[in-house]
Amino acid sequence: MLRRVAANVAVNSWKGNIFELDHKLIMARQLHARRIEGIDKNIWVDFTQLAADYKGHPPLVSILAKFFGKVVGHEINAFEEILVTVGAYQALFCTFQALVDEDDEVIIIEPFFDCYQPMVKMAGGKGVYVPLRPRVKGGKALTSADWVLSSEELASKFNPRTKAIVINTPNNPLGKVYKREELQVIADLCIKHDVVCISDEVYEWLTYDDAKHVKIASLPGMWERTVTIGSGGKSFSATGWKVGWAIGAGPIVRHLKTVHQNSVYHCATAAQEAVAQGFQREYELFGTPESYFLQLPEMLNHKRKKLATCLESVGLQPILPEGGYFMISDISSLKVDLNDPSTQGEPHDYRFVKWLIKEKGLATIPVSAFYSPEHRKDFQNYIRFCFVKEDSTLNAAEDILRKWSDGK
Ligand SMILES: Cc1ncc(COP(=O)(O)O)c(C=O)c1O
Repeated sequence: MLRRVAANVAVNSWKGNIFELDHKLIMARQLHARRIEGIDKNIWVDFTQLAADYKGHPPLVSILAKFFGKVVGHEINAFEEILVTVGAYQALFCTFQALVDEDDEVIIIEPFFDCYQPMVKMAGGKGVYVPLRPRVKGGKALTSADWVLSSEELASKFNPRTKAIVINTPNNPLGKVYKREELQVIADLCIKHDVVCISDEVYEWLTYDDAKHVKIASLPGMWERTVTIGSGGKSFSATGWKVGWAIGAGPIVRHLKTVHQNSVYHCATAAQEAVAQGFQREYELFGTPESYFLQLPEMLNHKRKKLATCLESVGLQPILPEGGYFMISDISSLKVDLNDPSTQGEPHDYRFVKWLIKEKGLATIPVSAFYSPEHRKDFQNYIRFCFVKEDSTLNAAEDILRKWSDGK
């Protein structure tokens, strides 16, 4: 759909800002969904742009462009290559509505953040699912890095109807942080089959130990076909702010803007300003010990280790996450009486989670909920814990688990 045709040829301008793209894009097939045809013009956008008082730079897109331009290694146009949204949720929604047409196929890697599936469906598309599978080492999969894609299985899902692939790194619920080589396999397939990559990176600053977050958009040939989704709420641990963004090449982002300007149009200024100030501070402190993006994973790493040790000690085998907020745990070796007739017929992890809430007062999430119906039955032996909690809450959870373990 997008093809690089020439290097260093396009020069675009926006209100006196000259920026250069090192490539010019054309489409080999239609990029946008038909539902947005003819609605890209908007009277408010057109006339506000003409108004003299619009000359100041909106601070959030400007700092996001500056910040992420450094991360991806080339200039990003604040006005054409970034869309600010109501949380990452809305960035995802705009992306699917703008790019996925009736009967398009969208590859979703499992386990996946649950909203991808209904959002693809609402756009008239069909989800095609490929699971990460545990590569068992000495009888146990110990970390999220041991969960891998089969490149043959992934390749077999691409066909001429494939419009996009959705990846999430660091992953919710598993905590997997894709390595460069793993992203390269996905990138090669996207380029070969002319497919868009939707990369949900809301937990990008939360990596632990030696895991390094790599942006698939920074791999050769991927900038022009990737939409990268981010979240101010996740970046600054303020989920209620609901400020998100989509970053990508102008010819893609312009379609997302069409959906956005015809749905919510604008996001709360105060929250945008707060996120802008956060990024401005991070821009100045990046790489120093005062950087929040350095301090946050250090702070959460202690909670991650605390939960893992506790789960291990009671026989709930944790899969140590390389990133994110969550930890999944293998429940297959636990013998509990799940004979509650009201949960009969439900997947094992659903029954287990309901039992855990009812009998022990501990709330977790069944991991098979993050799989498609066709793969759900293969992943019924895991539950998800969240370790981004006050220490007092983690201590209370630990007490419950210890009492249960002692009474077993
Ligand atoms: C993987 C993933 N993507 C997107 C979101 C949505 O983020 P926001 O709160 O910015 O809408 C979440 C929130 O839990 C998430 O876990």
